[in-house]
Amino acid sequence: MKKYSSASGPEAISLKNADESALIEILEKAEKEHGFIPRHISDEIARLLEVKLERLRRIQGKLDSTIRRDVQQHVEHWRNEEGNLIMILHAIQNQHGYVPREVAMELSRELGVKLARIYEVITFYHYFKLQPPGAHKVTVCNGTACYLKGSGDLINELRTQLGISEGQTTPDRQVHFDTVRCIGCCGMAPAMVVDGKTCGHVKTTDVVGHLASLKAGKEVAA
Ligand code: FES
Repeated sequence: MKKYSSASGPEAISLKNADESALIEILEKAEKEHGFIPRHISDEIARLLEVKLERLRRIQGKLDSTIRRDVQQHVEHWRNEEGNLIMILHAIQNQHGYVPREVAMELSRELGVKLARIYEVITFYHYFKLQPPGAHKVTVCNGTACYLKGSGDLINELRTQLGISEGQTTPDRQVHFDTVRCIGCCGMAPAMVVDGKTCGHVKTTDVVGHLASLKAGKEVAA
């Protein structure tokens, strides 16, 4: 009990530094121990959460005004252009690497276009992404020459190794995996591009090594 009770003792310091999951753990532990959550513990935790929330609100406020300013600049730049929605989405995608939901919402307000319409456009074009890109990018060419030389096997190997399908990013956001139609190196088929470096005559057995190089921060062998 004393363990959680003092707002100024060493225990209070550990409460103060606890993250949200640690606070929940403390509540669960107290409930298990007493059959209920003692008032002084819940009050102290509620106070700490309120402090954290206030900080988050302040950060959110700063982010909101940055988003608003950026979107207004894009809209102002393309205001009188026909088909400006696509141009603005390109600018947003170039800026963030994807189209964040809060930015799409701000754009909807600024342009007076329904959010559903904005998402219609984003999901229609393969270029636009709704999730942040991975730290690394692996692209397999699936054009005719590469397809005939076994790009399908490379794609399957990457699916297995990464545990994702093309067009997706690994849950740790380290690798984004995609396919593309002909990168203009048909003489090197099957080809793939790893963080901008083109690799030719790739065998399925090379895939593990390329991924290991990415993880180790090394440049892949062409
Ligand atoms: S088809 Fe793959 S590089 Fe042309």
